Amino acid sequence: MTHVEHKSIDGTFDKQRNMAATAAKFLSVWDIRAYYGESYIVQGVSFDIHEGEILALLGRNGAGKTSTLRTIARLDNPTLKHGEIWLDHKPLHEMKSHQAAQAGIALVPEDRRIIPGLTVEENLLLAQIAPPKGWSLERIYELFPRLGERRKQEGTTLSGGEQQMLAIARALARDIKVLLLDEPYEGLAPVIVQEIAKTLSVIRDQGITTIIVEQNAVAALKLADRAVILDTGTVVYDGSAQEVLDDEALRAKYLAI
Ligand SMILES: Nc1ncnc2c1ncn2[C@@H]1O[C@H](COP(=O)(O)OP(=O)(O)OP(=O)(O)O)[C@@H](O)[C@H]1O
Ligand SMILES: [Mg+2]
Repeated sequence: MTHVEHKSIDGTFDKQRNMAATAAKFLSVWDIRAYYGESYIVQGVSFDIHEGEILALLGRNGAGKTSTLRTIARLDNPTLKHGEIWLDHKPLHEMKSHQAAQAGIALVPEDRRIIPGLTVEENLLLAQIAPPKGWSLERIYELFPRLGERRKQEGTTLSGGEQQMLAIARALARDIKVLLLDEPYEGLAPVIVQEIAKTLSVIRDQGITTIIVEQNAVAALKLADRAVILDTGTVVYDGSAQEVLDDEALRAKYLAI
């Protein structure tokens, strides 16, 4: 199977080939290579995710996890110079970040980016300004009762765990298909990690596809269906999450746990 782009004479994409490349795969990342200036960082990463799956994207510090998420979200840095990214038959690799967002990609960065000076509810309403609208406030508060209780409170005054919940909720307030989470458990107590994990599995059951990047690999593996491990910008493992939990040698080699 080749992944070369074939445009027909009228310029529309050859649907048959497109279907072949993405059959049964919801998000398909193929041989992406991305650079910060001259630095070659994402060095030919490929993986697929089925709809409604949770994928743990793991690897040591500097392995290229954040850069891979940023590339999928089509942020300007790092710059994608080779490869293809397909979401539900749409070519993300041809898009800018705002188009990828419209196509249904939501990146929740490590620093969460809660907007200062706005309440919880205002943070959520702001996310709903650009159509198409995603989850209603009622549905969000049902999933995150703590956010409902604190809806009049300024977002930046929430606890770390609540801010992470707000960051995830804000993504759902838009009409998204794929949630990209960069270290959502960072700095949180184990009991809060458990609470967020439970919420993420409910979100999965409602059809959202998720990639979770985590230093807390064990927690991510317990949540995930599958795992991809990166090492210096390349994929060194792609398989079941349970297998990584069971394989001590693999964990020691690439995750240092
Ligand atoms: N803006 C940047 N400019 C140049 N190099 C960068 C930039 N951001 C990251 N890098 C480099 O790219 C490589 C991959 O970084 P990345 O942040 O993707 O790794 P990571 O797996 O997310 O690591 P961590 O676990 O520390 O978050 C590292 O060598 C890093 O130094
Ligand atoms: Mg990172």
